[in-house]
Amino acid sequence: MTTSRYHEVYAAWRADPERFWGTAAREIVWETPWEKVFDPDAGLYGRWFVGATCNTCYNCLDRHVHGGRASQAALIYDSPVTGAKKRFTYAELTDEVATLAAVMRRMGVEKGDRVIIYMPMVPEAAMAMLACARLGAIHSVVFGGFAAPELAKRIDDAGPKLILSASCGIEPNRVVAYKPLLDAAIAMATNKPQACLVLQRETLTCSLDEGRDRDWAEAIADARAAGEKADCVPVAATDPLYILYTSGTTGKPKGVVRDNGGHMVALKWSMSAIYGLEPGEVFWTASDVGWVVGHSYIVYGPLLHGCTTVLYEGKPVGTPDAGAFWRVISEHGVKAFFTAPTAFRAIKKEDPRAELLKEYDTSGLRTLFLAGERADPDTVKWAETILGVPVVDHWWQTETAWAIAANPVGLGLLPVKHGSPSVPMPGYDVQVLDEAGHAVEPGKMGSICIRLPLPPACAPTLWNDEARYLASYLRDFPGYYRTGDAGHRDEDGYVFIMSRTDDIINVAGHRLSTGGMEEVLASHPDVAECAVVGVADAMKGQVPAGFVVLKSGVTRDVEEIEKELVALVRERIGPVAAFRLAITVDRLPKTRSGKILRGTIRSLADGQETAVPPTIDDPAILDEISTALRAKGLARSV
Ligand code: COA
Ligand code: AMP
Repeated sequence: MTTSRYHEVYAAWRADPERFWGTAAREIVWETPWEKVFDPDAGLYGRWFVGATCNTCYNCLDRHVHGGRASQAALIYDSPVTGAKKRFTYAELTDEVATLAAVMRRMGVEKGDRVIIYMPMVPEAAMAMLACARLGAIHSVVFGGFAAPELAKRIDDAGPKLILSASCGIEPNRVVAYKPLLDAAIAMATNKPQACLVLQRETLTCSLDEGRDRDWAEAIADARAAGEKADCVPVAATDPLYILYTSGTTGKPKGVVRDNGGHMVALKWSMSAIYGLEPGEVFWTASDVGWVVGHSYIVYGPLLHGCTTVLYEGKPVGTPDAGAFWRVISEHGVKAFFTAPTAFRAIKKEDPRAELLKEYDTSGLRTLFLAGERADPDTVKWAETILGVPVVDHWWQTETAWAIAANPVGLGLLPVKHGSPSVPMPGYDVQVLDEAGHAVEPGKMGSICIRLPLPPACAPTLWNDEARYLASYLRDFPGYYRTGDAGHRDEDGYVFIMSRTDDIINVAGHRLSTGGMEEVLASHPDVAECAVVGVADAMKGQVPAGFVVLKSGVTRDVEEIEKELVALVRERIGPVAAFRLAITVDRLPKTRSGKILRGTIRSLADGQETAVPPTIDDPAILDEISTALRAKGLARSV
């Protein structure tokens, strides 16, 4: 039995998408109105709110100050790794952001310029994003767990005028010095920034480069002394708000572009319809501003809606224990909480009976949201049992900025089906297609695609690379956007997301490219060829495993080489890749035409029944791979 308005709302969207989004857009303050809600002739598949001008920072901050929320908390910083806790009201956050924007403008940043933000989870990271939005500059946040070469690639592609960074990040087991990584990345990049603004943190300070670097606190103090604040600069609704790099199938990341207008409309709509939140309520997303989840639901979504957002610098476990999440929920009155399933698996491993939960009053929590990777039914059921609230799995990706499929709390929950992120949201006509592009029957696996046009907020293109957008998403199924995920739908229209159709793996909710890791392994002087696959992991969902064939004549100790390979991936891609498994084999299984059978290797590593592929060149190799896996303690059989 259900009283959900979902079907009615979805039907209203289908009947008249422009009316639907035009109505949703009334929730946003526009500088000048649009000429067309949707222009099918603009961009690669049409553009939203063409002709309108607006400012995202104004809608996140100033409008709430003018609208009666000046003294309401906008952002709560909670950092168990430093012991710091701080609240910023909407008035205070607006003041901080306007001052930082003035500093950035003095450093040369104007509308349309790119700014890279390479920072840990401190309030200044969110302020930096909003200050860019205020100036009409385009930010690109780079996750702190990426190493210098990855940062360098993003610097080269985005061509930032300014980089905002900090002296260090704090992981439970170590302090991560950011400055050496920043310096190394700038040295590697050909497209060097004019300047850097560096936040010194007490835990570890750094030296600044004279001429290039400015001290954050000093620059802010100077601007304050001079009474400098920057106003919001109107931009076209279709102008980019940010570029967020995400893994593609090669080592070159994709620069996903987000616009201003459509992004605000969709995110604002999602806050009430999907997350069921009222303005003024507390929303906590335990992710990182380096990921799309952090962009949409630590920073932009909650602030657009006039909510209080929690910015948490800590982990689900170890900071200090598996009760950390419950503490934050109770202490800050969190109403809706969003994280990745892996975080719950980590808590479950440490505290299977959730004993620590008893120490906190989490009765204010209404809903738990999970995304970023497949939510396995065991984890969902465990979370439901311990918390006693609905657990909503929802599915989306960097490219979309908000849920493609969800169970919309604000419209009334539909029955939950474990293992499914439920149903398509308005704006998304989701189809499961076979290789020829025909819709498959319910229950049958296929490529999950979205009929064009994509709804507001979805990436209109890739930065500097329209051709790659076309090739990656639009070419294979004409008229559709290819999500890169495979799965099926049931008779009730629920989608089930089972795997990727490309070389992307999902490690602890982080999207990584196996192709990128293969490029790193192949660059080792002793490696002849290699294959990286994602193998199942009880906590992280998947972890990468690299199978390498050494060049003939290499007589060095194999274990030494494997250690070097692990170190190389950490150095080139970063610790976030969690690459710990390099396995030397004599040969890789291939088809007769020479294609490496990665699926077969993965299946062996996962211990699944593995059929011998009919196209395999030499079936005996499978036994060799199994032997190598057993030698690594991964006992598998063919
Ligand atoms: N800066 C520098 N290093 C970072 C980092 C950052 N911002 N974030 C992670 N790392 C490092 C970690 O310290 C770790 O390094 P190590 O190899 O020295 O231990 C490595 O990257 C892997 O990190 P992580 O994936 O976080 O694994 P973990 O074993 O430290 O923790 C979890 C496991 C489950 C607790 C953790 O992955 C987690 O909290 N996940 C939540 C998922 C999430 O937020 N996903 C975002 C999308 S919604
Ligand atoms: P990212 O772009 O980093 O957010 O990663 C997006 C990818 O993560 C998707 O294409 C899926 O492969 C996976 N993903 C995200 N959310 C879910 C979910 N709820 N269920 C299954 N897979 C998911």
